[in-house]
Amino acid sequence: MRRVLLIGATSAIAQEVGRLYAERQAQVFLVGRTAEKLEAVAADLTVRGAKVVGTVCWDARDWAQAADIVARARHALGVLEVVLIAHGSLPRQEELWHHPERSVEQFQLNATSVVALLSALVPVLQAQRRGTVGVISSVAGERGRARMAVYGAAKAAVTAFSAGVRGYLYPYGVKLITIKPGVVDTPMTAHLPKNFLFASARAVGRRIYRALERGAPDILYVPWWWRPVMALARLVPERLFKRLRI
Ligand SMILES: NC(=O)c1ccc[n+]([C@@H]2O[C@H](COP(=O)([O-])OP(=O)(O)OC[C@H]3O[C@@H](n4cnc5c(N)ncnc54)[C@H](OP(=O)(O)O)[C@@H]3O)[C@@H](O)[C@H]2O)c1
Repeated sequence: MRRVLLIGATSAIAQEVGRLYAERQAQVFLVGRTAEKLEAVAADLTVRGAKVVGTVCWDARDWAQAADIVARARHALGVLEVVLIAHGSLPRQEELWHHPERSVEQFQLNATSVVALLSALVPVLQAQRRGTVGVISSVAGERGRARMAVYGAAKAAVTAFSAGVRGYLYPYGVKLITIKPGVVDTPMTAHLPKNFLFASARAVGRRIYRALERGAPDILYVPWWWRPVMALARLVPERLFKRLRI
């Protein structure tokens, strides 16, 4: 029976992953921001076959609590076989320019909290000598963009830090997958006009589940074609890139 820690369990993408584990009667520990939403997800996963061994409400801006969350999950599950870090927030950059304190808060929510969680997870996973961790970053972390300056910088930090953790844990038989979705139709992007680039949460969740179960690749673009798209985007010289309003 799989033992799974879902952080940001109420995210549309994480819920899809959770449902696939529920079908396998996995034991799950759920971490989310909003109590009612968390209860609803716990009930849904239970109906689908999961055994929910614990839930914790956590606002990720309170990153200092990360070690306690990991300890509680470890206590409830025994072994952390699969961990998915899925919480995040896409702020409106225009508003952040006028509120530097909110920029810092959003950076802490999207990046510092992930650094805190992974730092707390390292000794646990090292001692276990097994486990697979999925960290949801974003293609937005690959280049700084005017419209997503704070979010992109936070995801860049998540990508770089998760790579460091992957390298550190590699000799211990622990796998870490940095997940880079493109644009996904979820509550986070509800305010954005939709186009052909958008993937469904269901398709992205299924791809993440498969990667977590197979333990490959190290860096997962979802859908896959974002890999060549971002390879091209990285080639655009900054003197041109800075002019693009994207
Ligand atoms: N959607 C996209 O286009 C896209 C693209 C690339 C990467 N991603 C990443 O994918 C992950 C999942 O996002 P999603 O697309 O599934 O969006 P979502 O359904 O809106 O999920 C966002 C999650 O983050 C949680 N959250 C927001 N603020 C929080 C806070 N202060 N403390 C704790 N949790 C907080 C939300 O909790 P509540 O349910 O309580 O609001 C929710 O569980 C995120 O890391 C996101 O950055 C998304």
